[in-house]
Amino acid sequence: MGLFNNLKKDKKASDHAFNDAENYSDSSEVADVYASQNAGEATVRQREVAPIREDRVEVAAPRSYQEKKPVKHVIGQTKILAIINQKGGVGKSTTAINLSAALGAMNKQVLLVDLDPQGNSSSGLGIEKSTISNCIYDVLLNDVPLEEVIIPDVCNGLDIAPATINLAGAEVELVSEMARENRLKDAVGSMRGKYDFIVIDCPPSLGLLTVNALVAADKLLIPIQCEFYALEGVTKLLDSMKRVKTRLNPTLDIYGVLLTMYDNRTLLSKQVVDEVRGYFGRTVFNTMIPRTVKLSEAPSFGQPITEYDPKGKGSIAYIELAKEVIARG
Ligand SMILES: Nc1ncnc2c1ncn2[C@@H]1O[C@H](COP(=O)(O)OP(=O)(O)OP(=O)(O)O)[C@@H](O)[C@H]1O
Ligand SMILES: [Mg+2]
Repeated sequence: MGLFNNLKKDKKASDHAFNDAENYSDSSEVADVYASQNAGEATVRQREVAPIREDRVEVAAPRSYQEKKPVKHVIGQTKILAIINQKGGVGKSTTAINLSAALGAMNKQVLLVDLDPQGNSSSGLGIEKSTISNCIYDVLLNDVPLEEVIIPDVCNGLDIAPATINLAGAEVELVSEMARENRLKDAVGSMRGKYDFIVIDCPPSLGLLTVNALVAADKLLIPIQCEFYALEGVTKLLDSMKRVKTRLNPTLDIYGVLLTMYDNRTLLSKQVVDEVRGYFGRTVFNTMIPRTVKLSEAPSFGQPITEYDPKGKGSIAYIELAKEVIARG
């Protein structure tokens, strides 16, 4: 099909990147989605009265990061993964939340750093952004230590450094700062040895925030949505990675490519899978994340999929992904 070659030529198509998350045309698919949404509503209503939510409130009782027990961990074993793709709506935040939670559920200590001014990872884990006094913006620009913004135990094994809309100013304000590309690296570097994984949710751009993530990360996890413009812009991302690798972070590399929103009913999904596997080879994770309405509902309940729909196919997929991540080391 040559999707990748065609797409590389069509640079203008990247302008459509932000509108592409829900481009379903097949009416039977739409009907299916509606059916599952209705089913989802029923589950939601049930959940509102279920005791689970009270238990969760207890688990999430506020305490500071300083009260956390120290983790016995060798500094060099912390893996810092940036979830990155400058294309919008490909499943970065969904993957950041659910992979982190799945790793946490598998007894790993995980810090999720929300580096996107949209703050989707923060709200998706139930953080009320209006109540936060300091966020990752203050770490990058006001010399606030990362420990002071971390909210511990949002789920089993999972802490978060949240983002608020203040972070939107960082792209501009960082420009005139010294060592502007190294701000995040210095901050998360101080957390090596305290976590098994540090996961960074990147914004959909290749601006200074993303460059900070490229400098701070050990490796990149690139989600690619199974739709026609899937590989659009990936060459640009790889170029940015190479530039940062040459000048600022010599060991940076791709950790894995993740196929998201896979729909086994469409030929297009299958063609994209073949194309991406053909191009990236063994870096592509065996696990593919299916398109399922539960994954899009979970953030509005402030829960990862492993809590919202633990037995569903979305949850199973992210647990499988977490196993692959642990196995890759
Ligand atoms: N596997 C999936 N099945 C169904 N819906 C999904 C799936 N993954 C993500 N979504 C939905 O697609 C939309 C985009 O996902 P998400 O926010 O994770 O993408 P993103 O790459 O972080 O976007 P942005 O570039 O704006 O940060 C969201 O509404 C999300 O709920
Ligand atoms: Mg996002």
